[in-house]
This record gives sequence, C-alpha cells and structure tokens, in this order.
Amino acid sequence: MGLFSRFSSDMGIDLGTANTLIYVASRGVVLAEPSVVAVDQQTRQPLAFGEAARQMIGRTPQSIHAIRPLRDGVIADFEIAELMLKHFIQQGHGGKYLVSPLIVISIPSGVTNIERRAVMEAASRAGAREVRLIEEPIAAAIGAGLPVTEPTGSMVIDIGGGTTEIAVLALRGIVVAETVRTAGDELNEAISAYMKKVHNLIIGEHSAEQLKIQIGSAFPTRLTLNKQEVRGRHLLSGLPRVLSVRAEEVRESMSEPLGVIVESIKRILERTPPELAADIADRGIVLTGGGALLPGIDALITHETGIAAHIAEDPLRCVAHGIGKVLEEYKRFERTLSSGLERPTDTNG
Ligand SMILES: Nc1ncnc2c1ncn2[C@@H]1O[C@H](COP(=O)(O)OP(=O)(O)OP(=O)(O)O)[C@@H](O)[C@H]1O
Ligand SMILES: [Mg+2]
Repeated sequence: MGLFSRFSSDMGIDLGTANTLIYVASRGVVLAEPSVVAVDQQTRQPLAFGEAARQMIGRTPQSIHAIRPLRDGVIADFEIAELMLKHFIQQGHGGKYLVSPLIVISIPSGVTNIERRAVMEAASRAGAREVRLIEEPIAAAIGAGLPVTEPTGSMVIDIGGGTTEIAVLALRGIVVAETVRTAGDELNEAISAYMKKVHNLIIGEHSAEQLKIQIGSAFPTRLTLNKQEVRGRHLLSGLPRVLSVRAEEVRESMSEPLGVIVESIKRILERTPPELAADIADRGIVLTGGGALLPGIDALITHETGIAAHIAEDPLRCVAHGIGKVLEEYKRFERTLSSGLERPTDTNG
C-alpha cells in the first residue's frame, strides 16, 4: 500500500449505464458486472444481479422484470440502483461485513446537481461512510495513463453505454468538455431501427448489441466476419425468422449516431485553447469505454478530425483503474474529486 493511500476497505465504483466495476484499494478490480437487476414484478424483490440478470433481458416471463437502473449515464430507477449497489459493494468485499468504506464513484461530467445527489445518496444508503464523486472523463484519462496533473493538454473520449464524454484536460481539471447522450445503447437502437425499416424484422436489444459486437464497424476496415445471422420476429407475418445481415449494413445503420459523436468532438476541438490544441495534435486523442472496441472507431475519428486517435489499453476498465489510482494516491489526486454538491467548473458552457 502506498504512502498516501487510505484504508484497504476504500472502494472505487464505476457506476456505468451498461457495466458496474468495483476497485478495492491495493487489490484492483474485484467486480465487473452488467448494471442489471432482475426483480419479481409482484413483490419487487430482487431475484438476480449482474450477468445472471442480464441473461434474462427479453427472455423473462411476465412476472420477472430485468431492469437497468441507469439510463444515459444517470440513475433512472433509484430504488433498484440502491439495491444493486448494496449487492455489488457486499460482493466486492467478498461477502464479509466490513467497516463502511470511503467510496469514490464516477459520474458523467455534464449532469445536474439533482443527478449527482441521487448517486451520492444511493451510495450512502448502500453503506458508504463517505462518498466523493469524480467526473468520468478525468477518471478515464487517469486510467489511460494520460498526464492529467501536468500543464500538457490531453484529450480523452469515453464511449460508454449511455454517454459519450469528450474532454480536454490539463492540470487536474477539465478545460472543455461535452457529455453526449449518444453511445453504445443508441448504436444498438439504430441497428434495431434499421432491421425493422429495411428487413421488417423486430429484433431485441441483446440481438442488436450482438450484431454490433460481432460484425459492427465505424469505418471501412477488415473484419474477420462479413455477415451474421440474426433472429427476430417478422413484422408482417408475426412469426420468428432468421436473417443474414451484412457488415456494411450494420455500419450504415450506425452512421447517424456516430455522426452525432463526431460533431461533438469537432465542437470541443473548436473550443480548445490553441496551446492545448497543439499538444493534442502532437499527442493524439485517447479512446476509452466499451465503444472504443468498435472496429474502425479510431480510423473514423482520425479521418474526421485529422488528429490521430488511439485506443487505450483495456478500454472497458480505464475508468475503474483511474478511480483506483486516485484511491491509492489520494493526496496527489484529491483535487480531482468533488464533494458532489456543486459542479466544480462549468463544463458545458
Ligand atoms: N467489442 C465491442 N464493439 C463495440 N461495442 C462494444 C464492444 N464491447 C462492448 N461494447 C459496448 O460498450 C458499451 C459498454 O461500455 P462501458 O462499459 O464503457 O459503458 P458504461 O461505462 O457502463 O456506460 P456509461 O459510461 O455511458 O454510463 C455497450 O454499449 C457495449 O455494447
Ligand atoms: Mg462508463
């Protein structure tokens, strides 16, 4: 344990729209589960959490409901979010009861005070002694190893399930940032909408995501597979049908939401002070979050901005690793945290 670290029960939580990760100081990532809870409709009792609950999405009988308590990066179902956090925190401690920990938890940068308060309250009620918030792009940048405490400008783009966070950072803080509520979920929805419009096929959220992960791309690139079968229900006959989908179709279907992300990146670059823009042009843009795994996303951003984009190592875990580094080197990074009651800077102005 480092000289400046706090206690071994301290925890970092990346409470994401798609995935929740828990980092325990000096142990690393101890839990990574989908942010899903299966509940009994009648009693509201939880039946399963995480991966077990995710398997139930779109497959549950009417009495069981698979709920994703976060939407667009923020808590949409408070009661379920609290249950989920409580369960994951306990699991993160190996099921043991421990002194209530300090919890550092990430939130998107462009959220309201009410949305911040909801996260703080859910974490407190789930057993935290003290809660500190960290803005997700700062955590992502620290986790990706960017020099955020130095005067050098760094640019990070975190494409998650609910939000894409685009930020320019220097000297521990956000200089300019935008949170776009267009990310992985919207890509899935665009694929579903395309299948319905072009093939009269209704497909589930999970099938759309599978198509994206198996044959999706953001820019023409060499893929291992160029077509994939998908199961759905035919709109006209109402009967189950299997259809073969081409990779180009999937790419085309996602072009609109990807365009929204690209436009936002360009806006941020326009608002970046020239000195920092020069640093970014030199060092490139770093991509984190699950969306960074979409083949060709780096090529698309490079093509559209003229600046090299690089995919961080282990993009799904950058935010958790960043929060972990903050816990382990608390004194060095304390200033990147916020008490949660106020927005430290106007990041969306
Ligand atoms: N190989 C892949 N190709 C494309 N997309 C992927 C791949 N793997 C995961 N994803 C997508 O990444 C998203 C999840 O990423 P991540 O875990 O970073 O999100 P999150 O942190 O939970 O969400 P947010 O930060 O928006 O609250 C999902 O939309 C998922 O479909
Ligand atoms: Mg995230």
